[in-house]
Amino acid sequence: MPIDQLVAGILADHSQSQHELLPVLHKVQAAQGYVPQGVYPAIAEALNVSVAEVHGVVSFYTDFRTEPVGKHVVQICQSESCQACGSRELTAHAEQLLGVALGETRSDGAVTLQAVYCLGNCACSPAIAIDGESHALVDNTKLDALVAKVVGDMQS
Ligand code: FES
Repeated sequence: MPIDQLVAGILADHSQSQHELLPVLHKVQAAQGYVPQGVYPAIAEALNVSVAEVHGVVSFYTDFRTEPVGKHVVQICQSESCQACGSRELTAHAEQLLGVALGETRSDGAVTLQAVYCLGNCACSPAIAIDGESHALVDNTKLDALVAKVVGDMQS
């Protein structure tokens, strides 16, 4: 479905109120995988906010993406607790394992490796998320196993 139709359909399900901005953005991302900047004007007009406000909300919340991502998304926490427990080393291992640098998508579109800043799992650092599912106390061996499961999915 063209993105304009998709957004129009989502907006039709919501009242024309600025309070609907977050739910609308979440639905766009859930359906499209990201929130393209090209849809900001339509959302702004429908919800009676400025394009700058839409941009501000999308850029404030790190969960919103403005670019397409790979089929799978591996996120590694880079905040203090996880750093203290080895997330930088884990990130380097993930980059080598996945063949992609942090913040990038592999050229085949199979996986995106992203930084996140706290997954709310600080007591069990380092923490990661794969396709939105959190995993705690992740070392290189556990990461290998989790990614192998994802790679299996990618090959099916
Ligand atoms: S600092 Fe990593 S989960 Fe909170």
